[in-house]
Amino acid sequence: MARIVKNLEGIEVAAKKLQTGHVVSLPTETVYGLGADARDGVAVANIFLLKGRPQFNPLIVHVENTDEADRFGEFNEGARKLAKAFWPGPLTLVLPRKTDCGISELVTAGLDTVALRVPQHPIAQRLLSLAGCPIAAPSANLSGRISPTRAEHVADDFKDMDLLVVDGGPTDLGLESTVVSCTDRGFCILRPGSITAEDIEQVTDEKVIIAQTDEHHPVSPGQLLSHYAPKSNIRLNAHSVSQDEGLLAFGSDIPDGAAKVLNLSESGDLIQAAANLFAMLRELDAENLSCMAVMPIPEKGLGLSINDRLKRAAAPRD
Ligand code: TXA
Ligand code: MG
Repeated sequence: MARIVKNLEGIEVAAKKLQTGHVVSLPTETVYGLGADARDGVAVANIFLLKGRPQFNPLIVHVENTDEADRFGEFNEGARKLAKAFWPGPLTLVLPRKTDCGISELVTAGLDTVALRVPQHPIAQRLLSLAGCPIAAPSANLSGRISPTRAEHVADDFKDMDLLVVDGGPTDLGLESTVVSCTDRGFCILRPGSITAEDIEQVTDEKVIIAQTDEHHPVSPGQLLSHYAPKSNIRLNAHSVSQDEGLLAFGSDIPDGAAKVLNLSESGDLIQAAANLFAMLRELDAENLSCMAVMPIPEKGLGLSINDRLKRAAAPRD
């Protein structure tokens, strides 16, 4: 049963839950989020499990202030101006991710960028400060359902699950944050929101590109995923392996002979496997082997999302 809490005591319980690797729902000024400690891959894997998301889309990391954001992302001058003008508020900045910043690779779906936002809602702020961790949070709806703007919407979507929902009343904006990527090539709006291109241009004095989101120019995660296809070839459903291959294993019964083996989860736990997926793909790819052989992953629960990602990685490249 989802449980709605309102008072300070409830916020304290939610903060403890975040600190101990649990998922909680929190209000922001845009929509309610489904949050977990962004450094904890298993906690983040549980967000995807709860949402029933068929894909590992990169998630927004919520932080208390710009100083915190500085620990995770590289700000250029323009990003700095935007943070100054719009934080706290409904703007998400996609920035180059600082290496070894501690954010789970599952949060950024293996990308070299990280999406950061300082929410304005007082309860989100309170929770961030009490929990003392960056909070990764997508909107708190089941995959394919509408984003929630009241605690009751969240409780309704997740009614059969053990989820604490911190009630912050109806959200002010009801529309997700504007997502802007800030690179030295300029600004690009990846997802429109209440902060407009004009608002951004006024602050930066630069032209903003609005990403085309029609079917011929999909911009969001599907397209982004191709940016981090591994260098090595990928062979799926491997039951045996050769000496020039790396093996991405799953479970305890693994074939001998690989040049290098990394195991997504020796105990066959799909949540752990999801938490390890991107970091291990990256680590194995860095070995510069001709091929990565990947053992079969069960097509259920998070296994569906893991296989979706692996299939994309294994697909022929342009
Ligand atoms: O208002 C909001 O933004 C809400 C509240 C809870 O903060 N959150 C939200 O999260 O809408 P979500 O996961 O539903 O949407 C995240 C968006 C997606 O469009 C995703 O593709 C984009 O942000 N995104 C996240 N990380 C990215 C990255 N590294 N590069 C490009 N896009 C990214
Ligand atoms: Mg959403």
